[in-house]
Amino acid sequence: MNELDSLVESARQLFAQSATPADLENAKAQFLGKSGRMTELMKGMAQLSVEEKKSRGAAINVAKQAIEAALTARRQALADAELQLQLQAEALDVSLPGRQRGAGGLHPVSLTLERIEGIFGSMGFDVAEGPEIETDWFNFTALNTPEDHPARSMHDTFYVEGGPAHAPNLLRTHTSPVQVRYAVQHVKKHRALLDAGQAMPEIRVIVPGRTYRVDSDATHSPMFHQCEGLWIGENVSFKDLKVVFTDFCRTFFESDDLVLRFRPSFFPFTEPSAEIDIQFQTGPLAGRWLEVAGSGQVHPNVVRNMGLDPEKYIGFAFGMGPDRLTMLRYGVNDLRLFFDGDIRFLSQFQ
Ligand code: DAH
Repeated sequence: MNELDSLVESARQLFAQSATPADLENAKAQFLGKSGRMTELMKGMAQLSVEEKKSRGAAINVAKQAIEAALTARRQALADAELQLQLQAEALDVSLPGRQRGAGGLHPVSLTLERIEGIFGSMGFDVAEGPEIETDWFNFTALNTPEDHPARSMHDTFYVEGGPAHAPNLLRTHTSPVQVRYAVQHVKKHRALLDAGQAMPEIRVIVPGRTYRVDSDATHSPMFHQCEGLWIGENVSFKDLKVVFTDFCRTFFESDDLVLRFRPSFFPFTEPSAEIDIQFQTGPLAGRWLEVAGSGQVHPNVVRNMGLDPEKYIGFAFGMGPDRLTMLRYGVNDLRLFFDGDIRFLSQFQ
């Protein structure tokens, strides 16, 4: 192997050993750079004769072209390898399943509240809300609840800061306080009619919302839902309550095979009072009496606290448990499932 051939060979080897473009450029400089080996060879031709210059020059050129070709090939190889790495790093597996956009849904109890609002709405009932932090007055006193009533004990009621020391604010224990809140607003709105001795439009409202009591087991949660109903007019009777509530239950459960029982009971804010039980005639719950609401004719003291004359205005109220209604409608046996937030349970209602 002559001198030029071995020079080409060592250039090829050095290029092959160059792992990066920077290494390769350094290697190139050793052969083709200003003071590289090839340049040195060219300079060394100065003393040669014209003839010798011709043949030596041609041979050097061939070697130089071989080195340049090797350089170009190695450059390309390094660039290809780098591209390959990049492609691997950015690899996109088009066979992976796409990400679905999860469709949200309503909570089963929200579905029940919507049904309740829809059914009572069709009977001309307004929908109202009230505060969850309530005063002693609206939660108890205005509802004719005596000072020593057990419901007022710390044992049953969550008291919070605020309000007078002897009657602190609390988390409302029922939606009943909104009866008086709503009626007072209604009376205010129709003050002029009342003052003129004219008939006031009837009060017809339902109040869905969250309520709180110190209680927790499979059928009781410290936070639960209630839906209050109130219908006050000059000529509203217990018969109307029976018709309205029976109609509601049959529509809600989509069953005419449903009987209701009004069982005498006691609530401070109604007189007379009744517990409302329902019984399915068919299906898995057939034959059992199931309590779904408290109700009664609004007590004269409460009517008075609404700003109305109990000699003239009369009506009924009821309070039902939407959580319970949801359990009955869907056959759920543990109330806590509604509030655990387990998506596997909740998604079954969509
Ligand atoms: N507030 C009662 C409770 O939480 C339920 C109730 C009973 C509401 C009778 C009423 C009613 O409006 O008339 O147990």
